[in-house]
Amino acid sequence: MRRILVTGGAGFIGSHLVDELLRRGYRVTVFDNLDRQVHPAGLPDYLNLKSTFIRGDVRSRRALKEAVCQAEAVVHLAAAVGVGQSQYEIAHYVESNIQGTANLLDILVNARHPVKKLLVASSMSIYGEGLYECEKCGRVKPALRQEAEKCPNKEGKENWEPACPHCQGEIKPLPTPEDTPLLANSIYAITKKEQEEMALLIGRTYGLPVVALRFFNVYGPRQSLSNPYTGVTAIFLSRVKNNRPPVVYEDGWQTRDFIWVGDVVRACVRCLESERADYQVFNVGTGKPVAIREMAEMVIKLLKKKLKPEITYSFRKGDVRHCYADTTRIHQCLGFTVRTSLEQGLRRLASWARKAPAEDRFEQAARELKEKGLT
Ligand SMILES: NC(=O)c1ccc[n+]([C@@H]2O[C@H](COP(=O)([O-])OP(=O)(O)OC[C@H]3O[C@@H](n4cnc5c(N)ncnc54)[C@H](O)[C@@H]3O)[C@@H](O)[C@H]2O)c1
Repeated sequence: MRRILVTGGAGFIGSHLVDELLRRGYRVTVFDNLDRQVHPAGLPDYLNLKSTFIRGDVRSRRALKEAVCQAEAVVHLAAAVGVGQSQYEIAHYVESNIQGTANLLDILVNARHPVKKLLVASSMSIYGEGLYECEKCGRVKPALRQEAEKCPNKEGKENWEPACPHCQGEIKPLPTPEDTPLLANSIYAITKKEQEEMALLIGRTYGLPVVALRFFNVYGPRQSLSNPYTGVTAIFLSRVKNNRPPVVYEDGWQTRDFIWVGDVVRACVRCLESERADYQVFNVGTGKPVAIREMAEMVIKLLKKKLKPEITYSFRKGDVRHCYADTTRIHQCLGFTVRTSLEQGLRRLASWARKAPAEDRFEQAARELKEKGLT
């Protein structure tokens, strides 16, 4: 397999993957529609000139077919990527992420092509809340929080933590393994879950090796600093660069698992090159939870600004409280471990961000959420 097609290859994760594949001697074609929300200035200048670029939309079967028929492996990253936005641009998210993937699978099943492997980008968002432990009931999976749960606890303080679904007692977050029941709680998450299931089903049915990678919160250079709908680290960077405080929902103690883009690329390459990955689903995260307010503070410190995170104590419908990866499977199956610590990664990110253009459009996105009744 030397010829790789990367859909969404002009995007954040895709462009880093393209660089690495070229470095390893693959021939790479990028298929990307240069979505204006991600690429307001058109073709990004970081796009590797050694790749072949096709401006095309995965929603158009004809354009995609030509690209697929030249490839020996496909990494499918093209997607509309914004959890909150997906709740009011439903048709757009379903068409791009589900119909786009359906087109790809249709081509793989019905056309003559040399493709021998498919990787799809899934997401931690398909879990909904992560796995938790209750002292009384053991391992539990709480349902989606309703605003009503943001009620005073025994000490009269706001309580943002989900309760045990069985005894309503206190629960503590655990690393979330791949076999945790899924509870997709946004249109974006539903599209990612459908995409993953469709791809694995078609792969198993037709003997085409498929691998689904559930990325956690990926951060690094090239994540659009002007797209206010996705990537909390990029959104914070954009605010802070523009001398505005990063805005944190809830009390800021909700946690996420932040993984450096270079580690995500290594995981993709490992899955592409190893047969042991075939037909599997893998978490791609660090296994380390980080509080959102801590991330906001780290970004401020790195850009050396005198700001404080703005903690809103407001609830964004559909947000999960805690979810971080159990990384056992990818480690045991492929020997994969992350190499870049959060401190190292953020330092590299900050030196890129100092020079990168960053139009802070957070307030527009926040207003949209409010108008739609989502905050
Ligand atoms: N960044 C993360 O933290 C994260 C986490 C979980 C999953 N993912 C998944 O990883 C993949 C890549 O994400 P990213 O962060 O690099 O996003 P990104 O927005 O930077 O890149 C996506 C690329 O896809 C292109 N695209 C969008 N719609 C398209 C269409 N209809 N046809 C062709 N191209 C289209 C965009 O122009 C963009 O270049 C996505 O599938 C996303 O769902 C990302």
